[in-house]
Order: sequence, then C-alpha cells, then structure tokens
Amino acid sequence: MSAHDDFFRSRKAAAVLKHGTLKRYPVVFAAKTGQANEVVFLDGYAGRGEYEDEGEEGSPLLLSRCADHVREFRKVLLFFVERDPAHFANLRQVLEQKGGSTRRVLRQGDITEHLPEVLSLARGASLFAFLDPFGPALDFDLIKSDLLGRPARPPTEVLLHVSVSTVARMGRAVHIARRRGGELTPPDQKTAQRLDRFLGGNWWQDFFARVDDERDDNRATDTAMLVAGEYEKRLTAGTAYRAIRMAVRPRPDLAPKYLLVLLTTHGEGAWHFADALGHAGMDWEEAWVTEQMRHGKAGVETLFGDLSVFDRDQYKAAKAPFWSRTIEQNIIQMLREGQPFRLADRVPDVYGTVLGQAWTPHVRQAVKSLYRQRLVDHPGTGDFWKEPLRRP
Ligand SMILES: C[S@@+](CC[C@H](N)C(=O)[O-])C[C@H]1O[C@@H](n2cnc3c(N)ncnc32)[C@H](O)[C@@H]1O
Repeated sequence: MSAHDDFFRSRKAAAVLKHGTLKRYPVVFAAKTGQANEVVFLDGYAGRGEYEDEGEEGSPLLLSRCADHVREFRKVLLFFVERDPAHFANLRQVLEQKGGSTRRVLRQGDITEHLPEVLSLARGASLFAFLDPFGPALDFDLIKSDLLGRPARPPTEVLLHVSVSTVARMGRAVHIARRRGGELTPPDQKTAQRLDRFLGGNWWQDFFARVDDERDDNRATDTAMLVAGEYEKRLTAGTAYRAIRMAVRPRPDLAPKYLLVLLTTHGEGAWHFADALGHAGMDWEEAWVTEQMRHGKAGVETLFGDLSVFDRDQYKAAKAPFWSRTIEQNIIQMLREGQPFRLADRVPDVYGTVLGQAWTPHVRQAVKSLYRQRLVDHPGTGDFWKEPLRRP
C-alpha cells in the first residue's frame, strides 16, 4: 500500500484541522464575495470523496456542504480535479450519492491541464481555490500568475497545503547528496527540480546548507519552516496578497507536518479565516486526544488529566481566559507602535501563538478588557475588527 492510499484509510488529527477549516471558511467567502457575482470553489487535488475506514468526509464533500449552505442566497459552482483514476471513480460515486444539489464539474487528470477551464468558468466570479497535494507538487508560476494574477475583483483566495515534512526530507536529501561531492544521482536531481518548480527557483538550497547532520530532523524541519516563510514572501511579493499561515502538527508535542496557508487580499478574509482556524483547532484537539485514548495510551496529557471522553465545553471554558489574556498582551504590544490599526489588517500579530486555538469572541473579550482599563478607545462592540484601534 502506498503512502497515498494509506492517507485515505483513516483521517488523522492533522487532516481534521484542515477539514475543520474547510467546513467553515468557504461559507463566509461565498457570503462576503458573492453578492454581485457567481462564486467558484475549486478543489484542485480533490482526492476520494470519503475516507475508507470511517466514511469521514473528504474535502469535496465539505465544499459541497458549504455550497449547499449558501444556496438560497449565493450562486456557487463547484469544480473538482483528481488525477488518480480509482480515487476519481470513488469521488464521482460519493458526490452522486451525497454531494448535494449545487452545480458541479468533475474532471479526471492533472490540475495544470484543467486549470484553463476553471479560470474561464470563473471569469467574472469570485474564486476560492483549495490546493492540497501530497507534497511539493504545485508550480510556483501557476499560483503566482494564473491565480494571484487574476483581476483584483471579484476576489480570488487560495488555500494551500504546504508539506513541511516533505520539503524538509527532500531539501535535506539534496543538500547531503551535494555535499558528498560529485553529480547528483538521477533521483536526487529529480527531487531538486521538483523543489525548484514548487518554490520558484533554487534559492532554497542556501537555506539547507545549514543542515549538516543527516539525523537532525529538528534542524531540517526548522529549515523547511524558514523556506516556507520565504516561499510565501516570494509568492505575495509585488501583489496585494498577504499570507495567513497555520502550522499543523499531528499532536502538540510533534513537529509541524504541514502549513495551511491562506492567500488573501482582504483583512476580512484573514479575520474570518482565523476565526475558522480557531474552531477547527478545537476539532483537532478533540481528534488527537481521542486518537491517543483509542490507542490505549493511559494518561493522555491534557488540561484535565486522564480522560475517557473529550468535553468541548469544558475545554473551551478552561482555555478561554488564557487565550484572551494572550491576545490582550499582543494588542498592548501593537499599541506601543503608536499608530492606530485595524485588527483585521494584523491578524497574525493579534492572535500570535493562539492562532488556531482562539477565535473572535476571545479577541472581543481582550478588547473589552483593554477598554475597561482605558488602554484602547474602542469598546469591542459590533464589527470591532474593522475599525481603527488606538489609545484613548
Ligand atoms: C492529499 S490528497 C487530497 C485530499 C483531499 N483534498 C481531502 O482533504 O480530503 C491529494 C490528491 O491529489 C491527487 N493528485 C496528485 N497530483 C495531482 C495533480 N497533479 N492533479 C490533480 N490531482 C492530483 C492525488 O491522487 C490525491 O488523491
């Protein structure tokens, strides 16, 4: 069984965060960007419709649900691409049975082959593109020119899965092969070319020059994170896009496996994405704790000691004060810069380390607390994140 097939056997906690976000955010995207035009949801690496073990819904079903959710007031078109014939057959069948009533197009083959059709259908529409390959499969230019290069209106947003673990493994392999001297073997050459295409050049090799111990996984992962940061900078350079990134781990004590990165031009987009990430973070917490308990690991280390069942309300109630306090400190830090700012324009700074845990009410709580202390001039009411915040 290949790693690809294994991926669809059962959904792991790391996939739960991605799916928790996909369950929520596209609804907001359609609501906010589809008042005057059609909305297209593209799933460029759609996969099977369902995971085999437990029938968990894959991304195509989740996007279909989001589209159906806004059916009464938004016009959505779903576009799915899947290269693997067996996965495609399963996808088609699952969508026929459970895919709801939103108009959809299914294509078997390579995303690069089908992108022109999507772009043509999405002309004049807002576009939400979810790109979720197994590894560094996407071409840099495809994202930068074809997707981010679309006209500014109606909006385009891209949600990318960037595999930290694969970039770490591949980058280190190429570096070590090169350091041993001589020519790269054909497989190493292929790996290097794949990374070049994905990252938009060979600049990443300088980053991996710091990884000199073949067994130092931590260093390779840290390097891959730095490479991913530079990659985001290069993708968004010269555009109006900003990147909101969430590092996703299988468990809190393990290294990040991938980054979920939203490319958006709108503070509103960033804001609601962070909100969706926070809700999805609780799904993730529940999933990894439950996974541990299912594997009979006694004493799963959580906030509440040993558990037999994960209680979402209890978890939220216990964590919320810490989340709000952390955000409050972050905002105090930002106020020191001396300029008024809108929270929606500074989402990663606002949430800091609690991105993917807290969500809007916890930020509201923080702003209300700062207002009570007369540290900000906004009471935290209404859509407070859209309005300038400053010292009184
Ligand atoms: C990580 S899986 C997708 C999982 C799915 N998005 C989900 O969240 O449920 C990646 C899928 O992309 C497919 N794939 C790989 N390369 C592709 C390409 N160039 N074009 C389209 N699909 C591709 C694989 O066959 C695989 O089913």
